[in-house]
Amino acid sequence: MQLSRPAGTAMLRSVQMTEYAGRDGLSDMQELVQRTWSPASRLHLGDVAWERSVNARRSADSWRTAVWRDGDDVVAWAWLAQPSHLLMTVDPDRPELAATVVEWFQTTADGPKLAVGVLETEKHLLTALESAGFRRDDDAPYFTHHWISLDALTEPVVPEGFTLRHVRQDEVAKRGAVHRAAWSDLGPSNVTDEDMAEVMSTWPYRPELDWVVENEAGEFVASALIWLDEQHQVGLVEPVGCAPAYRRRGLGAAVNLAALHALREAGGTKAVVCPRGDDGYPQARALYQSFGFRPGSRTLHLLLG
Ligand SMILES: CC(C)(COP(=O)(O)OP(=O)(O)OC[C@H]1O[C@@H](n2cnc3c(N)ncnc32)[C@H](O)[C@@H]1OP(=O)(O)O)[C@@H](O)C(=O)NCCC(=O)NCCS
Repeated sequence: MQLSRPAGTAMLRSVQMTEYAGRDGLSDMQELVQRTWSPASRLHLGDVAWERSVNARRSADSWRTAVWRDGDDVVAWAWLAQPSHLLMTVDPDRPELAATVVEWFQTTADGPKLAVGVLETEKHLLTALESAGFRRDDDAPYFTHHWISLDALTEPVVPEGFTLRHVRQDEVAKRGAVHRAAWSDLGPSNVTDEDMAEVMSTWPYRPELDWVVENEAGEFVASALIWLDEQHQVGLVEPVGCAPAYRRRGLGAAVNLAALHALREAGGTKAVVCPRGDDGYPQARALYQSFGFRPGSRTLHLLLG
C-alpha cells in the first residue's frame, strides 16, 4: 500500500514522500544506497537485501518504510527495522533532507526510547539527529567496518574430509540449516528456510558468491555469503558462520577466503565486513583480521527518550 505526499517544508517542495505499509520499497532503497555509496556509507546494497529478506515474514502492518524522491531520483529513505529502531540513507548531497527523515522517525516510531545507528563518517545524519535531541550512547555495542583489498589474497585451506564449494540455488534448506547452526549458541537464529529462500532470490544474490564448507556426510558446517555491488566493485560479506562443533579448525577463515576469491573473479576489487568493534564480542573481528581485513570507521548509536 502506498501513500504519497509532498515532503512537508517549503524548502522541499519538489520532493515527494511515499510511505509503504508493506514490504515494497526495497528497489528504491537499493537504488539510493548504490547511487550514493562510498566508503563513508554505513550501508551496502547487500545489507539492505539481507535485512529486508530476513524480515519478509513480518505481518504487513508491522512494516514502516518511507521513500523521498526528487523527480526521478530517490534522495532519502527510512525504515523502521524494529518498531523503535531506524535504518536510513540520505543522499549526502541533500543533507537538508536528514532532518525530514528524523522527523518522520519521531512521528512514526513506537516506544518510549528511539534508537538509531549511523557510521561515524555520516556527518549529515549525525547533525540532524543531534539537532533533534538524540544523544550518543557510548556504552552500546558498536560495529566497525573492516576492509580488504582483493589483490593479495591467501589460498583457502580446509582439513582433510572437508570440501569447499559454493551453494546451488536449490539448496535452500541446507543453507538455512548451516546459518541456524552457526548462530545456535548465540541466539538462537530466527532465520527460517522461507527467509533463506527470500535471501537467495533477492538481487544481487548470486549462488557463486555464497560459499560453504561441507563435511564427509554432506552437511554444510560453515558458510560465507558475499553481495557484490558491481558499480563500485565492492563486496559485502554478510553473514558468516561456523557450527559450534567445527570451530577453531580454520573453516571460518577458509570459507571466507574462498568466497573472496570468487568475488575477485566476479569483478570485485575490495570487500567490507562489519563485525562488532567493542570488546563484548571480539571473536568475529579476530577471524576477519586473521586473514587480512583491517579496521576502518565505526558505528555510533544514538538514543532519544
Ligand atoms: C566467528 C566464527 C565464524 C569463527 O569461525 P571458526 O571456523 O571458528 O574460525 P577459524 O577456525 O577459521 O579461525 C581463524 C582465526 O580467527 C580467530 N578466531 C576465530 N574464533 C576466535 C575466537 N572465538 N576467539 C579469538 N579468536 C578467534 C583466530 O585468530 C583464529 O585462528 P587460530 O584458531 O589459529 O587462533 C564462529 O565463531 C561463528 O560462527 N560464530 C557465530 C557467528 C558469528 O559471530 N559470525 C560472524 C559475525 S560478523
